[in-house]
Amino acid sequence: MKLLALLLLLGVVYPSLNEVVQSFKAKCPEFFVKNQHNHEVTPPTLLKGNQFKCICQRWKGKYRYATLYDIKRRIPIYSAYKFEGKKDIPRDGYWKTEPQLDECLKPENREMREMRPAQEETLPFKNQARNNDYPRAGAYTRGHLFPNSYAADADQAESTFTLTNAAPQMQDSNEAWAREVEELMRVEIEKNCMVNETFPAYIVTGVVPGDVWVAIERERRTITQGVNIPSHYWSAYLCINSASSRLSRAFLAQQIYEIKPNRKTKFKKSNMTVADLESKLTGLFKLLNQTFRVF
Ligand SMILES: *[C@@H]1O[C@H](CO)[C@@H](O)[C@H](O)[C@H]1NC(C)=O
Ligand SMILES: *[C@@H]1O[C@H](CO)[C@@H](O)[C@H](O)[C@H]1NC(C)=O
Ligand SMILES: *[C@@H]1O[C@H](CO)[C@@H](O)[C@H](O)[C@H]1NC(C)=O
Repeated sequence: MKLLALLLLLGVVYPSLNEVVQSFKAKCPEFFVKNQHNHEVTPPTLLKGNQFKCICQRWKGKYRYATLYDIKRRIPIYSAYKFEGKKDIPRDGYWKTEPQLDECLKPENREMREMRPAQEETLPFKNQARNNDYPRAGAYTRGHLFPNSYAADADQAESTFTLTNAAPQMQDSNEAWAREVEELMRVEIEKNCMVNETFPAYIVTGVVPGDVWVAIERERRTITQGVNIPSHYWSAYLCINSASSRLSRAFLAQQIYEIKPNRKTKFKKSNMTVADLESKLTGLFKLLNQTFRVF
């Protein structure tokens, strides 16, 4: 107990070691839009409760994007990132996890950790999904929030392959989302916005948790509500055009999943204003006294 208290104390004394952070604004503000009037950084709504953790996603010594992660549902709620134009970077092999969600803070677990198959047992994974939670040949794939195809360089592309940036998505939905949202949104941004290092498009991609779960095994016990299967994926961008005006657009897609015994939902996409998405998310997240803000 004394050791634990000491570690907790160290966490408070040296917050700079910790990438599961108290505040996005203080640790990785660069991934969020600034308010036009007061120039304050405005992260999307932080859902209330201890289960929601802010992760400044760190890989190879640098922050790559930011994620709000739900340790009860073991999925991200959203990832926020910058898009600087399509670069065509090949994908990386191994999935990663976030040691700080399951280990006391140590200097060596500052970053996401690559998990070779033999390392799967090195973390308890109480607070996050692990690779073999996703059925190997099953219907559910690892659906990226920040997609590999939007990365600016090879290290950032690799950093998208972490399970805290992915949620279960049926193969059909994953393909439809890539084709009808990721790809079309990217083309639209590149056509209408300035997109480079100086003028990136700011993007937030998220999910809405659903009522269906993937069962998982932990310490030889089955947890039926293991990894939540989102009912929806959503994405929104904000950029500036050549006349320096802000442009934005949002997308929301209901996911395909099976409701027992045999009813299958449909993939349904819609294209809307950010304000419309915010009002839909406010309802879907059942926020009572607050509007869900994306930007
Ligand atoms: C979204 O809707 C706008 C306005 O109707 C349209 O201009 C745009 O092409 C649509 N984008 C996609 C990706 O469907
Ligand atoms: C980004 O694009 C703007 C507008 O086209 C241009 O003025 C600026 O030099 C570009 N910056 C970089 C780093 O390419
Ligand atoms: C709801 O919002 C109002 C206005 O911001 C605030 O005064 C009130 O305390 C809030 N109620 C709850 C239950 O959070």
